Amino acid sequence: MDRLVIQGGTPLKGEVRISGAKNSVLPIMAASLLAETPLVIDNVPHLKDVTLFIELLAQMGAAITFRSDMSIEIDTSVLQHCVAPYQLVSKMRASILVLGPLLARFGHAKVALPGGCAIGSRPVDIHVDGLKAMGADIQIEDGYIYASAPNGLVGTTICMRFPSVTATENLILAATLAKGKTRIIGGAKEPEIMDLLQCCETMGAKVSYNTLGDITIEGAKSLSGGLYRVVPDRIETGTYLVAATMTGGHIKLTDTKPGLLETVIVGLRQAGAVIETTDSTIELSVNPEKRLLPVDICTGPYPGFPTDMQAQFMAMNCVANGDSVIKETIFENRFMHVDELRRMGANIKVQGNIAIVSGGSLKGAPVRATDLRASASLVLAGLVAQGTTIIHEIFHIDRGYECLEEKLATLGAHIRRLAETAGVEDYVKST
Ligand code: EPZ
Repeated sequence: MDRLVIQGGTPLKGEVRISGAKNSVLPIMAASLLAETPLVIDNVPHLKDVTLFIELLAQMGAAITFRSDMSIEIDTSVLQHCVAPYQLVSKMRASILVLGPLLARFGHAKVALPGGCAIGSRPVDIHVDGLKAMGADIQIEDGYIYASAPNGLVGTTICMRFPSVTATENLILAATLAKGKTRIIGGAKEPEIMDLLQCCETMGAKVSYNTLGDITIEGAKSLSGGLYRVVPDRIETGTYLVAATMTGGHIKLTDTKPGLLETVIVGLRQAGAVIETTDSTIELSVNPEKRLLPVDICTGPYPGFPTDMQAQFMAMNCVANGDSVIKETIFENRFMHVDELRRMGANIKVQGNIAIVSGGSLKGAPVRATDLRASASLVLAGLVAQGTTIIHEIFHIDRGYECLEEKLATLGAHIRRLAETAGVEDYVKST
């Protein structure tokens, strides 16, 4: 398997474009299952998860066209079946997002249970309970969800026991073609939810929502495709901002949206970063002479601090001047990066869902990527560590970051992707 080799110590400087949001393009690709005519999606990031989702739709029979301008056209009028097989679902949990739209449009679906992953058991009971409330008959057997609604789904009021992001998305998609009105109380409010709702509106759905997370959808008889541009990736944005902060650099991010990551920007300013924003750009600089200040964080549903930025802030706190407390409230096992950061000299104590970080310095070491955002935190640590860091099992990174090493190299980082057979020594000598 490929590895990333990083020589630490270079402040990042320059400009980078932010890609479309992974966690927005996936539910929007699922929305294409609702449309009688093709849906064209613009600003699609080139990611492993996007490729897997395209494979999932294509094996169902959807016609997918790639356009030169980074957009894709998905035509599901030629769909041949409504099955999401285990070998694809097990690779990408977001495959569960086809359940709601398949049920709403075709009246049946067979979707493999996603199973757990590195960060937690990640059940899908909230998805299933919501669809049952809309009249679906759902049986779970031999690792598959068998769902049917031969007379169609019926709108109702659904109270979410937890603002699950993909469960909210699944129920939105199901409700757009249900009979009558559906009200989702206490749904997720992440920007990706708003993006999906706006995409559904362009397809002809009648949706309304308020700041409390209450979503109301009037079911339509049918939906059409159209053209929709995906929102910028707020987590990719935050990751590059942390990279520049840790390395004492000065960067400008374009094609992004500062309003999507306000809590992250507040945290970076607390650490000592100077940040200027416009509607679509963020410029960050740090005084390299001054040590970063530690930042306490507690993750939570949006607009709280995003759990997908927790690992990156932990890496930053590892080189801050003082102690910090990190509390993870969303996933039960999202500290997989701690042991790997410790290999680089980090001083971190974990008690349950709380990590106490004592800032110091980091030294390069061989480490292993365990999940997407943990991998990002190891890259960030490698950028600032003394010496060489080798990150193994980097397929996790390719799921969620488009051209990571190219973008970082543009900013001056000494980072290379090495094939399994290549020798690390040659690379280290050459830099
Ligand atoms: C989405 O996952 C994101 N993935 C995650 O991003 C993100 O970390 C997460 O939301 C939280 O913001 C996509 O959008 C594709 P949840 P999701 O349902 O929807 C429990 C990344 O790195 N739960 O909000 O799966 C669950 O166990 C990924 O880009 C149930 O108990 O997250 C967890 O503890 C990682 N039953 C909590 O809710 C359910 O039916 C939050 O999960 C569903 C969820």
